[in-house]
Amino acid sequence: RVTSVSLRRVLDSRGNPTVEADVLTESGGFGRAAAPSGASTGEYEAVELPPAEAIAAAREHAVPRLEGVYAGDQRAVDAALHAADGTEDFSAIGANAAVAISMAAAKAAADVLGAPLYQHLGGAFRGGNFPVPLGNVIGGGEHAADATHIQEFLAAPTGAPSVSEAVFANSAVHDAVAEILADRGVPAAKGDEGAWAPSIDDAEAFEVMAAATERVADEVGFTVRFGLDMAGAELYDADADAYVYGDRTRSPAEQIEYVAELVAEYDLAYVEDPLDEEDYDRFAELTDRVGDRTLICGDDLFVTNVDRLRTGIETGAGNSILIKPNQIGTLSDAVDAVELAVRNGYDPVISHRSGETEDTTIAHLAVATDAPYIKTGTVGGERTAKLNELIRIAEDAV
Ligand code: PGA
Ligand code: ZN
Repeated sequence: RVTSVSLRRVLDSRGNPTVEADVLTESGGFGRAAAPSGASTGEYEAVELPPAEAIAAAREHAVPRLEGVYAGDQRAVDAALHAADGTEDFSAIGANAAVAISMAAAKAAADVLGAPLYQHLGGAFRGGNFPVPLGNVIGGGEHAADATHIQEFLAAPTGAPSVSEAVFANSAVHDAVAEILADRGVPAAKGDEGAWAPSIDDAEAFEVMAAATERVADEVGFTVRFGLDMAGAELYDADADAYVYGDRTRSPAEQIEYVAELVAEYDLAYVEDPLDEEDYDRFAELTDRVGDRTLICGDDLFVTNVDRLRTGIETGAGNSILIKPNQIGTLSDAVDAVELAVRNGYDPVISHRSGETEDTTIAHLAVATDAPYIKTGTVGGERTAKLNELIRIAEDAV
């Protein structure tokens, strides 16, 4: 049973404060976890409060309710967090405080059992699958100034025989992109997730990605495709009813045409948020057109929320959902979204945020839920923390 919950402010990868939680149990279990933070956040996400406010509110309302709760009963922990908050969107204690406590409690419970976190969360009937890592290697949008309009170009090593080979293939693509940009005389710094953020237009980024993934596929001897996070809600201008790419705009119909052409031309494995977060119908139209060849994933569309996913299932919008525990505030809610997705043929993609910490919970969550994909960057300590944990889990779990 939980005997104490302590909360503090720590740094995230952008140098901003975020919430870290420590959970202790009667039998000596200890768990520590920290909340990530988004920059291109969805309109319908659970609410992130300024960390100092979230900590004060959680100390007052959540901590007293958690004392005595059995940490091994994740649903009880997460129900206590919801009861302490009392709102639909964690606007009282902050989804950042909630998710840090929820994840720390799971780790404390795993510690009591002497089991790794993925084993505690996944249980004895977990499948033996490992996720394919989607690795951001070129990026712009809200994650870097003066770079591509499309937020993320992601390596997708779909043919990799193991997690470890997939992880190294993604870092090789990151490296190959740097070489190709240098050959073209294009300087490139890195954006928030460690992806290259060159001042090139999207068309050139597609050329670079095609060349880099082809080069690495030749080297490693398995299929390396690529995909996108278009962060459509950030591109979309509601007043103009158009997607804005600097000087040029695309109507919603043109946007669908554009994405369908990109999928065909580059054999894209994955397209996240190709359209605005309100536009279920056009998500459905695009899924109808290209969903048999590629994943059409909802991030800002679904925000890890089962009600929004249900609307997507009813309308046929997308065939994949991004799972970000901090978008919904607890591990139980995130797992509910995964389970609803899988039951309805949607592929779950467990995901980091652009602002991250060294926390590795999502690597364990991906393995625990048998998720086919994880999106957690390519380089940089807060990204490699998850990737290296996956490599360790794969070694441990065979
Ligand atoms: P965010 O971006 O973490 O800044 O929201 C990641 C994404 O859009 O997938
Ligand atoms: Zn996204």
